[in-house]
Amino acid sequence: MSPNVITTPVRAMLVLGTRPEAIKLAPVARAMAASPLFEPVVVTTGQHREMLHQMLELLQVPASVELDVMRDRQELSKLTARLVDGLGDVVRAERPDLVVVQGDTTTALTGALAAFYEHVPVAHVEAGLRTGVLDNPFPEELNRRLIGRMARWHFAPTTRAAGHLTAEGVPAAEVFVTGNTVIDNLLWVLDQGNGRNLFHSDLRRVLITLHRRENQGDKMRAMGRTLRRLADRGDVEIVLPLHKSPAVREALLPELSDHPAVRIVEPLGYVDFSATLAGCDLVLTDSGGIQEEAPTLGKPTLVLRTTTERPEAVESGAARLVGTEPQAILEAAMQLLDDEEAYASMAKAGNPFGDGLATERIVAQLAEDFGADAGAAPTPEPLIVPQPGGPGSYSTA
Ligand code: UD1
Ligand code: UDP
Repeated sequence: MSPNVITTPVRAMLVLGTRPEAIKLAPVARAMAASPLFEPVVVTTGQHREMLHQMLELLQVPASVELDVMRDRQELSKLTARLVDGLGDVVRAERPDLVVVQGDTTTALTGALAAFYEHVPVAHVEAGLRTGVLDNPFPEELNRRLIGRMARWHFAPTTRAAGHLTAEGVPAAEVFVTGNTVIDNLLWVLDQGNGRNLFHSDLRRVLITLHRRENQGDKMRAMGRTLRRLADRGDVEIVLPLHKSPAVREALLPELSDHPAVRIVEPLGYVDFSATLAGCDLVLTDSGGIQEEAPTLGKPTLVLRTTTERPEAVESGAARLVGTEPQAILEAAMQLLDDEEAYASMAKAGNPFGDGLATERIVAQLAEDFGADAGAAPTPEPLIVPQPGGPGSYSTA
């Protein structure tokens, strides 16, 4: 046996606590579980409760450890403290060879920090996203910059994201352009074909999600009133899967719950959400993941935020960053519903976030770096070559 082939599988701890982390780490968990080279150890933090649990079956790996840190309306400082405390214990007890975190949540930040404190190397999936505005989105832009200081492997979804990292001084040899694992998962789920599309009329179908902290309060209430005016058109069916956050519910329910054209539902499982996304005509959202999924399915997307860390979709023409002002949102939505040409040009723009092979690239790279790649499947070709580039601001301002 070759000396650099390790004889025990690599113990990879996947730390996840929110809905998008479960969705985007699910294909990594599935691939590692299917490989003799890896032993995935899934740790759920419980940052989200219901919205996480409804995603866990996507992983096809049971959680080895479950923390339970969610408290009603707890401050970010309290959540962060609970998470570092709990995850430190878990890393010490489980002794993984590496810790894998995804994105920019408090769970991801504290998972990386707890690993760093125990000298366990960190792999960051979806690395290098930047708006260039430190407090927007809040606190995610800070979280991802901090994770970028701690990680040993930076799996960037796009060339631009890789460029942000190298411009910040991360060695190019530690940055890998892979595509986004969300595409891998979306294609896998749609392929199963058993989702339920919640739209059921012949009207124009508008899918809406809102949850960002920086939009909550008066801003989100005003957005609710705007969406009501959109619903008043009479020729639209709106589906709004409502985030569990009490702040979101307080802002949107009073404005929208009694409108006959607006169907407000509890957060959907991923299989049904994907089918509903595939069945809509237009998306209005402040979500990160949906900005990646909607272009994949050719659904024009209005991003109801003042910044985006996913400018690739705006540049390709698949999404528009419309900001949070009621009039701008209404005009943009009305235009897309009335102007066939504007609609068609967005619908055909395509997906700039990957080819569905991100997970394969990530797992192959880790296997190689742990000396565990003998006999493994060949790594897919790099998606694109990393280019240095500056983290310029991308905002409506
Ligand atoms: C977090 C992430 C954000 C991500 C979003 C995904 C951080 C800093 N932000 O947002 O990047 O886009 O999750 O949705 O980590 N709640 C429930 N049940 C649930 C989930 C949430 O009751 O299943 C309630 C809890 O009261 C919780 C509140 O919603 O306190 C907000 O959840 P939280 O994880 O704090 O969300 P954000 O930080 O806004
Ligand atoms: N999603 C879901 N059910 C829903 C709403 C969203 O499965 O009712 C999925 C969506 O497909 C995307 C992810 O949740 O993959 C996005 O999560 P969210 O918007 O909460 O977080 P963000 O991506 O903004 O961090």
